[in-house]
Amino acid sequence: MALAAALNAQMTKEAHAAQIYLSYGAWVASQGLGGTANFLFRHAQEERNHMTKILEYILQRGAEVKVIAIPAPPKNPTSVIDCFEKVFQHEVDNTNEIYKIVKMSFEEEDWATWNFMQWFVKEQVEEEALALSLLDKMKIADAEKKNSNALYSLDRDLEKAPDDIKSAEDATAENP
Ligand code: FEO
Repeated sequence: MALAAALNAQMTKEAHAAQIYLSYGAWVASQGLGGTANFLFRHAQEERNHMTKILEYILQRGAEVKVIAIPAPPKNPTSVIDCFEKVFQHEVDNTNEIYKIVKMSFEEEDWATWNFMQWFVKEQVEEEALALSLLDKMKIADAEKKNSNALYSLDRDLEKAPDDIKSAEDATAENP
């Protein structure tokens, strides 16, 4: 399979994303935001699921899986807003990596891989929207923190927040 190298590289990128969420989760936990940490830890697991999905696909196509070292996560954020700005930027960067593989599969006329990658294209729309909505909420909570417990409430909400955001592609007129 022509795209085996690119898919193997993306598999490691998803593992790296998991490490980033783990490390940021540990940092926000150290700031006393247990609910936010819980959310980030759950998301780390989601990134590992992305990794596994690619691994399974490489195997299914009869190509070789190469599990290599995962780069270290970046240094700790300087604030909760900085944390979610970095999370959002990371997702945007990951989307661009996904698009590169989609483009390569198109050029190679590897339609199975092109089709497989559409799941990730859709997933990235959701991941970016989720990261952006959390960043917005963090900004609002931060702006209000001097006279309210907005950050505390948001942290408590994140403990039980859904891991996914509703996709526009799944919306209907009855259920927008
Ligand atoms: Fe695997 Fe957050 O995208």
